Amino acid sequence: MKQSRYNSKIIGCGMYVPEDVLTNSDLCKMVDTSDEWIITRTGISERRISKEDVFTSDVATKAALAAIGNAKITPNDIDIIIVATVTPDMYCPSVSCIVQKNINARGASAFDLNAACTGFIYGITVADQFLRNEVYKNALIIGADCLSKITEYKDKKTCVLFGDGAGAVILQARENCESKIVDSLLGAEGSKGENLTVLGLRKDEMELKKRITNNCNTIWMNGSEVFKFAVNSMVYSVQKLLKKIGKSIDEISYIIPHQANQRIIDGACKKLNYKSEKMFSNVQKYGNMSTASIPVAFYEALNEGKIKNGDLVILTGFGGGLTWGSVALII
Ligand code: COA
Repeated sequence: MKQSRYNSKIIGCGMYVPEDVLTNSDLCKMVDTSDEWIITRTGISERRISKEDVFTSDVATKAALAAIGNAKITPNDIDIIIVATVTPDMYCPSVSCIVQKNINARGASAFDLNAACTGFIYGITVADQFLRNEVYKNALIIGADCLSKITEYKDKKTCVLFGDGAGAVILQARENCESKIVDSLLGAEGSKGENLTVLGLRKDEMELKKRITNNCNTIWMNGSEVFKFAVNSMVYSVQKLLKKIGKSIDEISYIIPHQANQRIIDGACKKLNYKSEKMFSNVQKYGNMSTASIPVAFYEALNEGKIKNGDLVILTGFGGGLTWGSVALII
């Protein structure tokens, strides 16, 4: 990473999840599944679901305001808003522009970013460039998704996995600060993109055939292929990032992985030869909230005292695209 006098420090974070809970027993009434199958195959017990008239910009705004309050800044202090999402309210305006309006951050630039479940890692990495290069001082990065809006609740292979939520952080440029984003690593394997799809304008015949109903605005996934990619890409990116920053896995205080499936988290932990109690998990209560999973997990890990000042922490994710990425930071 290019040296700079400036680094990015997380000065505040916030989260929001909708109140409505969809439990495994609720799902048993909707598809041919069981609490036992869902728990043993995924580790998920329940997830949060937004009401019909609540959209990604609404959950993103709530998380943003919580992060702004936590950072003790005002919306006027924000120079850039990045929202990572795959479930925008509309194609245009972007969720980030709607958030900018909602929080009245008049001086901020704003754009959305789509790297699916890796979106928050991409967002932090992009914002870090602006701050270290002294372009901006304060960045608001939000991971927000309402996956329930694009979930096919007749497809037992996917509907048990997903939930809604948002997490946000404020990154601030600080001179020679110990607490900082240390480095990051991003990647993509577009050649494997067909394993996890949500259609847009192009209604590809093959894609339509894959879906069990004619609702084409839903997620289709080859679960076992994505599972393998998830474990391998997390292990690869964490190991490559460790090498880049000159640290060993034992020097990492905590890992906050994307929350998709407890078996994926456990599999990566084992392959990394890492302590399972240092690998954060809240997948049981929220399921996979896509790009919101990592910032929500970060918020909870901080508030539960699992990570604290001075700790070297890795955030690591994978997702549609297919994409992957990791960020190392000192809290
Ligand atoms: N309830 C009951 N049975 C189910 C089920 C459910 N909800 N979902 C699938 N099954 C069945 C399948 O139909 C299959 O039955 P069969 O053998 O009679 O055909 C069997 O369980 C095994 O299916 P399989 O897909 O091989 O299960 P799995 O162990 O791979 O688990 C996932 C499925 C989706 C949980 C798992 O593959 C996964 O988590 N993949 C990654 C998903 C992910 O992370 N996506 C987001 C990326 S950000």
